[in-house]
Amino acid sequence: MSLIDTLRGRDYIETRDFSEPELELLLRTSDDLKSKFKAGVPHRYLADKTIFLFFFDKSTRTRNSFEAGITQLGGHAHFIDADTSQIAHGESPKDTGIILSRYGHGIAIRHDLLPSEGNSYMREVAHHADRPVINMQCDVDHPCQTLADLMTIREVYAERRGLKLTKSSTREVVKGLKIAVSWAYAPSYAKPMSVPQGLIMLMTRFGMQVTLAAPPEFKLMPDTLQAAQNFAAQSGAKFEITNSMEEAFADADVVYPKSWGCIDLFKQPQESLELSKKYKDWICDAQLMKAAKKEAIYMHCLPADRSNEVTDEVIDGPQSVVYDEAENRLHTCKAIMALTM
Ligand code: CP
Repeated sequence: MSLIDTLRGRDYIETRDFSEPELELLLRTSDDLKSKFKAGVPHRYLADKTIFLFFFDKSTRTRNSFEAGITQLGGHAHFIDADTSQIAHGESPKDTGIILSRYGHGIAIRHDLLPSEGNSYMREVAHHADRPVINMQCDVDHPCQTLADLMTIREVYAERRGLKLTKSSTREVVKGLKIAVSWAYAPSYAKPMSVPQGLIMLMTRFGMQVTLAAPPEFKLMPDTLQAAQNFAAQSGAKFEITNSMEEAFADADVVYPKSWGCIDLFKQPQESLELSKKYKDWICDAQLMKAAKKEAIYMHCLPADRSNEVTDEVIDGPQSVVYDEAENRLHTCKAIMALTM
């Protein structure tokens, strides 16, 4: 069976469910779809197919990249606000999965606000669905985001290192680069932990040196920390944890400061926000950027709390790649749909 065939019909719930060659194939397919999109070459690989997009939380990038992406692939998306569906009246994940599998070709779900709910919900839908289930962000991972992040880092550093993406593996391009994944202060809402968790698991896997920084109350799920340790041990990378943003940024090639809520307070989000006020100085500003390498890139999954998580000077400055990163959400989600549906 070819690698492409192994992906057809598979659920995409966490990147750790996929082998490194399978993730590499997703990235190469993303490159190909990006080139075709930019050249105006039609790529209707999912003609007349339907994906159902279930949102238990708000979204700009994820919803629109999936909707635009499936249209460009020749198919159609149904947007469903979970609150306006029978899920709000308690319809089971089993019934939802079975019935939608009979109507279309893929089911994508965002269910990210409460630890221990979203991932198990989508795995339950997937268990009963005959069609692939794609995680548009859960409590554990945001695998569409982190794949786009890896694509972005790989593009920047392949160019800087004079490597051709068609000839070099992702591991060859990014191995040894240091990424600082840091908590930052945000007053808007208690953001899920899935982006930093997904980052530490995926980047250690590909051999990047990962330093995670957070105040003591803003720990990540122990299982994801352990997974990052294991992946680092396998790839020969380092995975370190500190409670200093500056220490994490020291000599970093990539900095990724963003906020998340307190693991024990997701059911009391106001208390989490109140607690986070102690750490208002956890902001990515020009002074902090000086701790990183001069040519380091600034990343953020967006939306960013400007003037809190990051200053305008940094996010709008020459080191920021946030718009390329957001653009890559389109190309990677198309690759995930095209190869699994
Ligand atoms: N980064 C991200 O997932 O953005 P949205 O919440 O807007 O989908």
